[in-house]
Amino acid sequence: MKLIRHILLEKGHDVQSVSPELTVFDALKLMSEKDVGALLVKEGDKISGIFSERDYARKVILVGKSSKDIRVREIMSEKVYFIKPQNSVEECMAVMTSKKVRHLPVMDGEKLAGIISIGDVVKALIEEQNFTIDQLVSYIKSP
Ligand SMILES: NC(=O)c1ccc[n+]([C@@H]2O[C@H](COP(=O)([O-])OP(=O)(O)OC[C@H]3O[C@@H](n4cnc5c(N)ncnc54)[C@H](O)[C@@H]3O)[C@@H](O)[C@H]2O)c1
Repeated sequence: MKLIRHILLEKGHDVQSVSPELTVFDALKLMSEKDVGALLVKEGDKISGIFSERDYARKVILVGKSSKDIRVREIMSEKVYFIKPQNSVEECMAVMTSKKVRHLPVMDGEKLAGIISIGDVVKALIEEQNFTIDQLVSYIKSP
């Protein structure tokens, strides 16, 4: 069974984050440079929220506001859900589905250990299924 810490071993522990005082425009620029769809919002070591492409689409573009006039603090999601390194990939998918979120920061005790996206989870689940299929195929073919 694949665990969250196994995904982090492959993808690394970096978490792209921004200050709540940054403009939404600058946050979007960072998202584009780093090729990520969400940013953790931090004041020092304190996590104050998470900002995603969805927050931008729904709370800026759709309401006719400009990203240069708005701070991340005004549109970030303040409720942040977490996952632990020892959780399974299936548990992570269950949290994402029930809470309707696509990114979960990983907390190892008090320490921020990484971030997992729904794409990471789907990739891990497909790899697990491919492994099972390969095992079954070789079992069927064995004399
Ligand atoms: N999951 C992947 O391995 C991966 C990698 C690159 C591109 N994509 C493509 O991007 C699209 C959306 O993918 P997604 O659901 O993975 O979301 P995403 O674009 O937010 O995530 C892409 C990768 O960046 C990482 N990431 C996201 N936010 C981060 C942050 N704040 N700090 C550090 N790393 C961060 C994710 O864990 C993932 O590995 C899909 O079309 C997918 O095919 C996926």
